[in-house]
Amino acid sequence: MALRKVFQEGEDILRKKARPVERFDDRLAELAQDMLETMKEENGVGLAATQVGILKQMFVMNLGDEVPEELQGDFVIVNPKISNTAGEQELIEGCLSLPGLYAHVKRPEKLTLHYQDLEGKEHEMDLSGFPAVCVCHETDHLHGILFRDKASEPLFRLDAEGRPQTAKVAQVQDDGSEI
Ligand code: NI
Repeated sequence: MALRKVFQEGEDILRKKARPVERFDDRLAELAQDMLETMKEENGVGLAATQVGILKQMFVMNLGDEVPEELQGDFVIVNPKISNTAGEQELIEGCLSLPGLYAHVKRPEKLTLHYQDLEGKEHEMDLSGFPAVCVCHETDHLHGILFRDKASEPLFRLDAEGRPQTAKVAQVQDDGSEI
């Protein structure tokens, strides 16, 4: 296993569309392990292959221990497809490719995720709340979309106590400069 470089906003690869995975081989499994390791090292809950410079439709996630038990632990999601979206929710999102930046983003409250595992076996999951948000965010990465594109407000940083800096909103542009 090895840590991979996480590409940052401004690098072209994050704007490219990933291709469907067709070969479920050892290389794919190794990539998934590296991505899980990298995600944990960076304290993330999700990481898309695009973010480590690989244009394959795959992401990993580990949603922590405050989600239903069946959603706890490491997940490798290959060739995700989202359907049956319903409702709306707005949570604060961040991204390992935009470190330190956050914003509320509107997402469906519920959805069905269809995906394959590392063996190519097909699965389906009904998700709501935070897990649904994570799946939307990571699937967007595979289409070259960043949470900035869908944010309901200018991106902001958090203060030392972890609260949004509402007094002075740091608007940060694509090229990293602050307004
Ligand atoms: Ni992200």
